Amino acid sequence: MEEPIVAPSVLAADFSDMRSAVSLIGASGGDWIHFDVMDGRFVPDITFGPKMIADLRTASTLPFDVHLMTVEPERLAPAFIAAGADYITFHFEAATHAHRLAVAIRDAGARPGVSIVPSTPAAALDEILPFVDLVLVMTVDPGAGGQALIPSCLAKAKRLADLRKERGLSYLVSIDGGVNAAVLPSVAEAGPDVLVMGSAFFAARDPKAAVSATKAAYAARRLADGPAAR
Ligand code: DX5
Ligand code: ZN
Repeated sequence: MEEPIVAPSVLAADFSDMRSAVSLIGASGGDWIHFDVMDGRFVPDITFGPKMIADLRTASTLPFDVHLMTVEPERLAPAFIAAGADYITFHFEAATHAHRLAVAIRDAGARPGVSIVPSTPAAALDEILPFVDLVLVMTVDPGAGGQALIPSCLAKAKRLADLRKERGLSYLVSIDGGVNAAVLPSVAEAGPDVLVMGSAFFAARDPKAAVSATKAAYAARRLADGPAAR
């Protein structure tokens, strides 16, 4: 099992100083930057639009992982791609024409991702899996940071990684919500490729140590597995 990609979410940052938040992520060994876009409709809160992405694009060369928690993601995706998003992840529950949207995102030069809320089963994604580069499994109900991870969602992430192997596909599996030191052993056990981390990163006294501890949890798991398991 390779080291995970750690994607701190700026949702937990000080919104009046986003440029510093993005710099801190880079300086702390974060691999991607996760942007939670909330529209006040798919979820109650409202965060930011594409201008935030465009303005921050000059602050970091790390991949921008944009998570659209919005209704009608097809209306918003083009502006976020133009602003410099690398991954655009939309909610399966919000997209009637998920295939059309995944193809449109790729045609526009970004990587398409699809996300599911805790109550949506992995099987719902059967038809869309071949067309996405990322599957984001919400491990909390979307809408706010700082919630507790729902353990059954880890099993779902593992199921999606198994399905990838069975079907010869190559999407990354990401988990989002409630990732912190307390749940790291079970997270490493499930082994998703990408770990989104909001409050555990920005509330940490030492964010760099929080990132290294997260990566170390996967390394510890690899040692426990032994070389034969690799
Ligand atoms: C939740 C967002 C998450 C959030 C995670 O709706 O999608 O990305 O920032 O925050 P934590 O890590 O605090 O659960
Ligand atoms: Zn998110």
